[in-house]
Amino acid sequence: MAVNQRKSGNKKKNVDEKELNKDKKNSGTNEKNDENISSKIPWRKIFSRFMLSLLMIFAVYWTSKKENLHVFASQKDRLQLTSAEVSCSPAYKKDVSKFKDCVPKHCGRLVTDIVVTPEEAAHLLRVSKKGLAFGGSSGGASILDLHAGALSYDNSFINVYEKIKAHGANKVFTPDDFKVYSNVRNKIQQIISFNFGIPINKLYLTHPTFFSEITPRAAKTKHDEYWHIHVDKETYPSFHYTSLLYLSDYGIDFTGGRFIFVSDGKNMTVEPRAGRVSAFTSGAENPHYVERVSSGTRYALTVSFTCDKKFAIADPTMQKLE
Ligand SMILES: *[C@@H]1O[C@H](CO)[C@@H](O)[C@H](O)[C@H]1NC(C)=O
Repeated sequence: MAVNQRKSGNKKKNVDEKELNKDKKNSGTNEKNDENISSKIPWRKIFSRFMLSLLMIFAVYWTSKKENLHVFASQKDRLQLTSAEVSCSPAYKKDVSKFKDCVPKHCGRLVTDIVVTPEEAAHLLRVSKKGLAFGGSSGGASILDLHAGALSYDNSFINVYEKIKAHGANKVFTPDDFKVYSNVRNKIQQIISFNFGIPINKLYLTHPTFFSEITPRAAKTKHDEYWHIHVDKETYPSFHYTSLLYLSDYGIDFTGGRFIFVSDGKNMTVEPRAGRVSAFTSGAENPHYVERVSSGTRYALTVSFTCDKKFAIADPTMQKLE
């Protein structure tokens, strides 16, 4: 923060000098004609002072805004395991305590870049693109759910497996695709179990678990509006732990599109990085949103877990195409 302040301080100084130089130059050329008038009312000085004040107000506003945006995980860093604790919301605590072995030691968030390999992330990016090629939302956000088969298509959804079969293209997804998908899902489950201190077999994959593709295109339906602050558990009551696997890089493949945890004191951003896993408890302790994507295309996989066996779903397999 101190660095930001210093930076904008320098900017102010530069502008200040420029304005002063301009003043000097102008007053040099006009000296003879305007001498009388300008000695009475120094308009130029008043104007430049005014502009300077505006600039300073803007600079102060800018730095104070930045103060409350903390980079929790920068795209540039390869993080082993970074985590933060937040106190569990009462509603989350009440719900999760129905499953006593599934109660987290602490609620919170984690980010790790060492669980999923770059090869696995690249493989899953290809899988998502293969599936999404059969559909696509008319707005900026498309999803592909390999469990339910849901694929965005114009303003609604179709079944990707039906579409592939109708196309006579049974070889779109390979056994290897499903194997990588399951392995990665399992690794994410392990890191959640490790970080929150719960037995791995008390967590169940749940619906919806899906790939997302976000472009800067304007929203056409509410499904395209990913940028609203929300709590996962309020949207999907069965959720207990939410995770994301990023498949593309913030600042390289797209701009905008940072993930932001919202809180009263300080917002925390997770900058997407291919292969990065971010996971958090799904209750009101973790309200969040995704910034609008301003250029490029952002790919991610949302993997959701519940403690309630009733809502468990299985990994997808080649059988979906039979
Ligand atoms: C966090 O972000 C939200 C949404 O952009 C904003 O309304 C809020 O003021 C931010 N909080 C802080 C502390 O900066």
